[in-house]
Amino acid sequence: MRHFRIAVIPGDGVGKEVIPAGQRVLEAAVAGEAELAWHHFPWGSDFYRQTGSLMPPDGVEQLRQFDAIYFGAVGDPPHVPDHVTLWGLLLPIRKQLDLFVNVRPIRLLPGIAGPLRDKNPADIDMVFIRENTEGEYAGVGGRVHVGTAHEVALETAVFSRFNVERVVRYAFELARSRRKHLTSITKSNAQRYGMVLWDEVVQRVAQDYPDVTVTSLLVDAAAALMVRAPERFDVVVGSNLFADILTDLGAALMGSLGLAPSANLASAPGMPSLFEPVHGSAPDIAGRGIANPIGAIWAGAMMLDHLGLSEAAARILRAIERLTQEGTVLTPDLGGTATTEQVADRVIALLQD
Ligand code: NAD
Ligand code: IPM
Ligand code: MN
Repeated sequence: MRHFRIAVIPGDGVGKEVIPAGQRVLEAAVAGEAELAWHHFPWGSDFYRQTGSLMPPDGVEQLRQFDAIYFGAVGDPPHVPDHVTLWGLLLPIRKQLDLFVNVRPIRLLPGIAGPLRDKNPADIDMVFIRENTEGEYAGVGGRVHVGTAHEVALETAVFSRFNVERVVRYAFELARSRRKHLTSITKSNAQRYGMVLWDEVVQRVAQDYPDVTVTSLLVDAAAALMVRAPERFDVVVGSNLFADILTDLGAALMGSLGLAPSANLASAPGMPSLFEPVHGSAPDIAGRGIANPIGAIWAGAMMLDHLGLSEAAARILRAIERLTQEGTVLTPDLGGTATTEQVADRVIALLQD
């Protein structure tokens, strides 16, 4: 029996609802094959209210010893400012563990009527590779003349050749294993330093992948094209902020933000990677037991796949597809009346078939 140590950080809001649901599905999927030893970390906004910080000072150090991290969401607006929450937990974890890419599949699942008329699952099947440790989220900046009428705030994006290259290379490798098409998201018409470097790196790395066709799209045009012709996208590589925005758009094309998963992958072997749904803490529906757990369950399947439990991961994906195809046990975001737990129960039942 294989044994894995998983750090679980449900966080805030619906994170506390979808992560336990996901854990139950993962347990059922690996039963008899592997043992998942969960270590629960109560970090997030409640922890902040009790201790003054979102996680302990050695929080990231504690995470290093695990095989993977299963993360819900953080954010408790308006009680805790969002930049305090996110810069106190998720963003330092991504940076300090060097979780260099964020892999975000966008797929229209069978049976789901997405918002795009006439588009079916074959038309919406792409994977975003999001730069995950620098770019617009570098955290470089400051404020001067604070509180005065001439206050100035600087937020400086940072693009390093080393980092852009490894993210772009990851995207090319993935494209090679799929439909061999890569779209690079840029804005080098307006941003003439970082985005020009980005474009140059894409062009250079492309020479190593002559079998992959590359399209470079300005981010504004890419947003429109994702809606108009999503079938044009296979693998998409983008900067931290651009891919953040476009993956919420992608999740909307899937039919709900509650469906989209993500994998934050560590650059170094032996470091834990972090798996989370794309969505946030959803304060507008938190506490009612109606959050869609599919994004969290799917992120958990990506975690199992990453840990080498590929067969269990594939069975979860098939069960999710059967559930959406059936269309009878869906949460309210998909037009149903089921609870978070009922969806998890149905996925577990469908694992057996
Ligand atoms: P959100 O993703 O939490 O919610 C946006 C909309 O999607 C809401 O209407 C919500 O009800 C719906 N939604 C989200 N998840 C759902 C689910 N599982 N099932 C059904 N509906 C779902 O985004 P927001 O409202 O902009 O942000 C809320 C808080 O979450 C903020 O504090 C934000 O900073 C934080 N946030 C955290 C993460 C993270 O921890 N990874 C990600 C995004 C946002
Ligand atoms: C996400 C989230 C985070 C991000 C926020 C909460 C900092 O929106 O994971 O997509 O932008 O990375
Ligand atoms: Mn986001």
